[in-house]
Amino acid sequence: MAIPTITTVIGSGSMGPGIAALLARSGSQVRLNDISQDALDRARKVIDGATAVLDDLGTPVVEGGSVTYETDQRRALEGADLVIEAVPEKLELKRMVLQQVEEIVSPTTIIATNTSGIPITTMAESMENPERFIGMHWSNPPHLIPMIEVIKGEKTSETVEKELVTMVESFGYEAVRQREKAGFIENRVLYAILRECMALLEEGVATQKDLDTCVKWGIGYKLAVIGPMRLVDMAGLDIYESVASYLNEDLDARGDVSEIVKTLTSSGKLGMKSGQGLYDYAEGEVEAKRADIIKGLVAVRKTLSEITPV
Ligand SMILES: NC(=O)c1ccc[n+]([C@@H]2O[C@H](COP(=O)([O-])OP(=O)(O)OC[C@H]3O[C@@H](n4cnc5c(N)ncnc54)[C@H](O)[C@@H]3O)[C@@H](O)[C@H]2O)c1
Repeated sequence: MAIPTITTVIGSGSMGPGIAALLARSGSQVRLNDISQDALDRARKVIDGATAVLDDLGTPVVEGGSVTYETDQRRALEGADLVIEAVPEKLELKRMVLQQVEEIVSPTTIIATNTSGIPITTMAESMENPERFIGMHWSNPPHLIPMIEVIKGEKTSETVEKELVTMVESFGYEAVRQREKAGFIENRVLYAILRECMALLEEGVATQKDLDTCVKWGIGYKLAVIGPMRLVDMAGLDIYESVASYLNEDLDARGDVSEIVKTLTSSGKLGMKSGQGLYDYAEGEVEAKRADIIKGLVAVRKTLSEITPV
């Protein structure tokens, strides 16, 4: 499938509006659906911000695209070529939504889920036509990170997988196909880094600021240019083998969540959203940091798109 004529995005929270903005930009008539009118009202502002970012990136505007806002799910779904489910990460809620979707759309409409890690096969168990159901895991912010994980469940058809990959590529994103595995690739790798950082922080090996500096420059900067597999080739597999042979057994492997995180969350310190977390934020600092992050992501993406992929 190239760009779908009509896309329905269900759920207009952190992810839905950015997804809607990018697809509309690519020429799709997007219907953004939420049970909350407030969420849809907030989405208009987010979509304006996302559109400004896409302008800045020079993302082409394909004629015919639009976003409409709908609390009525049936109206939002009628005639859809692609449905993207982006409601909260709760299996029963997602199952209920999928059932409602299947009652309205045609049996061949592709239904995708933006789940962060619920197995596609588990979600599809109660579906009537599970062969057209597939994982489409966007990275946050979705209008800015040009990579989508495409996850095939046991019953997803190969045709649907191919169609989704073609669609992702047609709006200029990279599709990462994969077999189903808890957390999918992006979160598995990210959480391996995060678990190690939390352990080092808890052991007092380094401060949060030094951990950020090391991972940003020593790892992130390099990995943005060269992926981990080619990095190993560049360093030499013999070097990897000798370091891994003594280091792997010492790396953090705890199965539960670190005490530092449990203590902070139980005292309401949730990070930027509550003004305190691993760092403390002064008045107005959170907004400034969020703006700096978007500015930085735009600048780095522009640079990365100008260099030859390694
Ligand atoms: N937030 C992230 O960084 C991120 C990244 C990748 C994937 N995801 C995944 O995307 C999905 C959505 O995450 P989010 O962070 O945008 O959630 P969110 O909680 O910010 O927003 C979900 C929205 O869905 C709406 N909703 C709830 N029930 C609904 C229903 N029955 N019909 C229509 N709308 C309904 C809510 O009102 C809310 O506005 C989750 O599966 C999440 O795991 C999130």
